[in-house]
Amino acid sequence: MDTQAPPPHVLVFPVPIQGHINAVIKLAELLAVAGFKITFLNSDHNHARLLKFTDIAAHFGRYPGFELRTITDGLPQEHPRLGEWFLGMFEDATEMKIKQSLRDMLVNITPPVDCIVGDGFLGFVVDVAKELGIPIVYYRTSSPCSFWAYYSIPDIIQAGELPIKGSEDMDRLITTVPGMETYLRCRDLPSCCRVTDMEDPVIRLVTKQTRKSPQADVLVLNTAEELDGPILSQIRTKCPNVYAIGPISAQLNTRLKAKHGESYHLFLNTLWEVDKKCISWLDQQLNRSVIYVSFGSITSMSREQLVELWSGLLNSKIKFLFVVRPDSVIGKDVEGEDVVRELYEKTKDQGYIVDWAPQEEVLNHPAVGGFLTHSGWNSTLESIVAGVPMICWPYFADQQVNSRVVSEVWKIGLDMKDVCDRNTVEKMVNDVMVDRKDEFANSAAEMAKVTNQCVNVGGSSYTNLDRLIEDIRVMSL
Ligand code: UDX
Repeated sequence: MDTQAPPPHVLVFPVPIQGHINAVIKLAELLAVAGFKITFLNSDHNHARLLKFTDIAAHFGRYPGFELRTITDGLPQEHPRLGEWFLGMFEDATEMKIKQSLRDMLVNITPPVDCIVGDGFLGFVVDVAKELGIPIVYYRTSSPCSFWAYYSIPDIIQAGELPIKGSEDMDRLITTVPGMETYLRCRDLPSCCRVTDMEDPVIRLVTKQTRKSPQADVLVLNTAEELDGPILSQIRTKCPNVYAIGPISAQLNTRLKAKHGESYHLFLNTLWEVDKKCISWLDQQLNRSVIYVSFGSITSMSREQLVELWSGLLNSKIKFLFVVRPDSVIGKDVEGEDVVRELYEKTKDQGYIVDWAPQEEVLNHPAVGGFLTHSGWNSTLESIVAGVPMICWPYFADQQVNSRVVSEVWKIGLDMKDVCDRNTVEKMVNDVMVDRKDEFANSAAEMAKVTNQCVNVGGSSYTNLDRLIEDIRVMSL
């Protein structure tokens, strides 16, 4: 290797939603730790929020050459960007607009970009990279099991196993996803499969983005060989150059500690204001006595669902820390209503409510013994690393698959999919926190041990990241 060569300049482009940014920014940081020059592309809209809630200079200042740049997400300024808004980025005219901005930036940027790390859901980034002859690393932030299920959708349809024939058909096993034949039911397929029209635009979109992956030079996945080995083998039959480098947050922690000889406070929050007071509340609770409840950054629920979840938590008598994002409850403007006021009153003795928590810190707090989650992939990995068993209440997309793997393959939690009544919530909370506490705590601790070893020196994810770094250097020459 030519040690005099300037460091590779890598442009990193995530889908502009919290779950994707969280995972992609960490890969950008890892490449910065390796000495690369990074340009991180944030949407204009998110950049404004980032400036509001994050000390950018403090966080990114430790990486010389790390630059944040903005790009349009293609939507008008006044767009509310709630729920699954980001799907709008892929409408033809909008996608064209973003693609053009990206192309213009890449043509004009100095120093020139040597390699692009594109979010594995942004197929148009692969097109632009190919057009301009720039090497492209595709980073799929969701789980390998969901990637593989998405990849297989055309085959499932071809085999006549889709569409699903009504609610009585939901427990039928799907046999055409290699490696998942024994546990994947209709209800565990990505949520876009719950339609009757197999030409549905969302099915077409996710299949298109996923099937683009073999065109990239490299596919990076946020997992470890030891977690997802069998599925990774299947994915490698389509995309030979797969690097499993996760869990990415733990990997970054390890690398920063090694480089700086101290533990950095890594819990970067990007888009919401964090309520740190919940940590003081957790400090007052007994070890493993609290269930943490959070459904990520884009899940929404009805007011009725909120009341059922909340009532189940209260009835369980288990202490809880509940994240209720202000934009997450549809028809939430119920401040004056008796039922919600009553729930708030009762919560004072038993729980703590926040708009947004420092989640990784919470999961690693000794008082936390369980996680009621929507099974977003970042949340799932963060829980695994912290050794916290889960109750999964998936909302959409990959989460239906993730929750099945958590409960049925890894056996580190329970799947509450498609159910939301207070009795079930109460029972599952008690199962995880009391009745089957040791069983779940032991399996989660074992999985945490194996997973944390992967990101230590000599571990599979650590070694894979070293290979990725070297490959990017070579591709950049
Ligand atoms: C979405 C999808 O749900 C997910 O499955 C997909 O893989 C990526 O995009 P999101 O729904 O936000 O993301 O869930 P998740 O992937 O779990 O990411 C949420 C992130 O926000 C996590 O890193 C979590 O630590 C953080 N978070 C969440 C907080 O910091 N505080 C909170 O209060 C809640």
